[in-house]
Amino acid sequence: MLSSPFVLLAIAALAYKLWQAFYISNDKNSKVSSKLKALERSHETGGALSNMVQADGAGSWPPKATHGAGWPSELLPFHEIYLEMIPLLSSSNPSLDDAVNIERRDQFRALMSKKLNERVDMARVQALVSSIEAGNWSGCSRQAYNGFYCCIGVLRHSYRWAIIPLVKVVQEERIIEFPAQLETTWRHLQRTFGVDSDSGSNTSNVLLNFNQKGERAYKINLEISELVTSTEEAFFRMFYDVEVMAYPMYQKMVAAYISYEQGKKGECLKHMEDINSQLRELLRVFYQNLVESRVAKGVWLSYCQSFQAWGAGRMINGEYVEFDGVSGSHNLCFMVIDAFLGMKSYMNDQNLGRYIPQNQRNLISTFRRNSFFDRLHGDEDKEISDQFGKIIQHLKVFRSAHRARVMPYLAQPAPERMMMTAGKSFNEPGNDDAHLKVLDNMLVSRLKDTIAMASKLLS
Ligand code: HEM
Repeated sequence: MLSSPFVLLAIAALAYKLWQAFYISNDKNSKVSSKLKALERSHETGGALSNMVQADGAGSWPPKATHGAGWPSELLPFHEIYLEMIPLLSSSNPSLDDAVNIERRDQFRALMSKKLNERVDMARVQALVSSIEAGNWSGCSRQAYNGFYCCIGVLRHSYRWAIIPLVKVVQEERIIEFPAQLETTWRHLQRTFGVDSDSGSNTSNVLLNFNQKGERAYKINLEISELVTSTEEAFFRMFYDVEVMAYPMYQKMVAAYISYEQGKKGECLKHMEDINSQLRELLRVFYQNLVESRVAKGVWLSYCQSFQAWGAGRMINGEYVEFDGVSGSHNLCFMVIDAFLGMKSYMNDQNLGRYIPQNQRNLISTFRRNSFFDRLHGDEDKEISDQFGKIIQHLKVFRSAHRARVMPYLAQPAPERMMMTAGKSFNEPGNDDAHLKVLDNMLVSRLKDTIAMASKLLS
């Protein structure tokens, strides 16, 4: 009986829930010991971490965010309107008829615009967002503004798509005229966070969608099916949970930089061992959750990925510039680990500037600049070098597993749409297999870069 796959799955799910409750309820991340706070102040990497946590995170990491609660009254209509629009956004039977879809899209957008026009006092909103951009936070707490960033991000994605699962006729639109309430606010928010995409990112749409209890505020699908609800929940939670696990690891990295520079190799080794065990735990979030029983392939593409895609743009200085949607590559923790190793960035500078907030970029570049991977001295640093080898091994296993697991999710049939991942818009000609091959090549190339790091260590 106990060996029945259903019982084993139920036990695994329960164990995961208990583990999750432990991590979040203990709120490990906000309990930064005074020793670590001191470390943060005493090194450039610590300064960058502290700056990001204090400013963007409102003193905590993952960042604190509130959704509606504690917001200035002029921002509240946005929150209410998103909640009112969700039931109209997704449907259990996507139509294959363009005319039906055009009508649905127009009705959805007209209703959202009407609600925004009638209920948002733009003069007051404009005054608030302008003063925040100028550095005056007296009218709004950082956690409220973080939640507001998410709210405008998800309102824009819902306006862009209007129909979930997304459909061809809406994909074909390349320039979207957003209501002024979603355009002006977004420009201010993007400048405040230091990013310049028209679309949302993992920070705006995913990370900031969680409050400190680990609850997700702005859902995409309501009452489509139990499977859609649980898949949506499990999928997005992974990106929050990895960041919960990553914060103590970032602190250990700062401690490792400091002890290595001070020549305290024994201490550095201990920190490196801790980083390895933290990374092992962090990756379990991925291994245990990106499985069919938690993220169902049959609904993921249409109901979860759809919303986070983008594939639209605007004319900038006489040229059409297109933006991509939310991608797993926006995850801060993987970029920080790569930087700790001194590895070149997966994303190019343009994409970093579009999707990764300024303070996160600063953390990544500071970690990369201070990486001591290339400064290790042969036998003298053998044990520390072995720990780097273990980190690389973890990354290799993750990148191979990621590649193997994600491709079947992307290859699911979705007759209502053309090929488009959330992260890559694919407006170039080519069939679905060719597009999948492009994505696979990107993942293979990153895996090769990681393997090359291991050879560097041995040489
Ligand atoms: C069904 C789920 C997923 C799919 C279909 C998927 C797909 C992809 C694709 C196609 C890329 C390469 C294109 C791009 O840069 O946007 C990518 C990159 C990436 N994804 Fe995912 N992904 C999934 C889930 C995840 C999860 C849960 C994580 C981590 C928690 C993750 C982390 C990454 C990272 C870090 C990269 C950058 C490449 C690298 O560093 O190796 N992905 N993903």
